[in-house]
Amino acid sequence: MEQLQHSEMKVQQLLSILEASKQLNSNLEIEDVFQNILLQMVTVIGAEAGTLWVLDSDGEEIRVVAAYGESADKILNIRLKKDEGIAGKVIMSGEPLLICNVEEHPDWSNWVDQSSGFVTKSMITVPLAVKGKVLGSLQLLNKKQSNFFAEEDVSLAVALASQSAMALHNSQMYDELQQMFLSMIQTLAKVLDARDPYTAGHSERVANYSVWIAGKLGMAPDKMKELYKAALLHDVGKIGIPDDILRKPDRLTAEEYASIQLHPVIGADILSNMEPKGVMIDVIQTARSHHERLDGTGYPDGLKGKEISLFARIVGVADTFDAMTTARSYSKGMSYHDGAAELTRCKEMLFDSEIVDAFTAVLVECDYNLAQYEADHKKEYRL
Ligand SMILES: [Fe+2]
Repeated sequence: MEQLQHSEMKVQQLLSILEASKQLNSNLEIEDVFQNILLQMVTVIGAEAGTLWVLDSDGEEIRVVAAYGESADKILNIRLKKDEGIAGKVIMSGEPLLICNVEEHPDWSNWVDQSSGFVTKSMITVPLAVKGKVLGSLQLLNKKQSNFFAEEDVSLAVALASQSAMALHNSQMYDELQQMFLSMIQTLAKVLDARDPYTAGHSERVANYSVWIAGKLGMAPDKMKELYKAALLHDVGKIGIPDDILRKPDRLTAEEYASIQLHPVIGADILSNMEPKGVMIDVIQTARSHHERLDGTGYPDGLKGKEISLFARIVGVADTFDAMTTARSYSKGMSYHDGAAELTRCKEMLFDSEIVDAFTAVLVECDYNLAQYEADHKKEYRL
């Protein structure tokens, strides 16, 4: 009878690991993965609270990236040296640790309990390791109902930790790749803007204005990230325009203007070389269509209304505003107030009304102080 119960329990544990593993691999966004790992572990093992510690990329410090339980918000983002505390010791040794009664353990320091008001009685700490490399550790505090963990809880935690570590590893790699891709695009945009002293910072400003507009339009965060990249690269085709035209201090002749007008097509052409192509579609389209206008008077394709993609319509507004409000050698540049008035005058005709209204709402909200808007919304738009 006892053996049957034991087998049933094992089957239940196996099922819960399988279910947790499905959940763990359902997302790659790093913040979601942190939460998922902790939640699965706390639920499967049945703990009152839990903390996920991750080793920083330079390998010197550990940081709480997810916390569960009563005092979770007080513990989040706490940093320790890599070998500090029980979490650090487990990261260093790579071995799981069961502390049946924390008060009797020499490495136990109750400062977290003191600051959070939580009373830790028993604790399991497991390393999260992939191919022998420890990425972090996971601490579970107080077994639900009984308060104290047993050896069998450790085996279950270890089994789940290996699944969690793989999810963590994949998501960290994905995050690094995304960061690298974004910083390469930002560098490319800076190099481009540096060719003409009058356009310094143009791409970055257009990218910022675009996501602020998108925020007012209620765009999903994933889509906003794509928009930010597309906006940074909207003028990449200017790389193909000769310096004497691009940097000409006087007004352009008709011929020179025609040459500048080639930049959307050149840009789309350059970007269509980037792989994987599926990811680049919106970016290519934005580079090609950001000078299209609602009434069909834009270029290069003379598209009208909604034939112009949403990204290109947004970037078109942001780009025009920055061009109008930036000083050139032959003009001083409008005030933000006048720039907004000009966009409003041209809405319906040239620009999407909803988009112009969204941008005007941004300007009104910050009382035409866009530097202040950027400072106030930095966290929200951290892409
Ligand atoms: Fe442009």
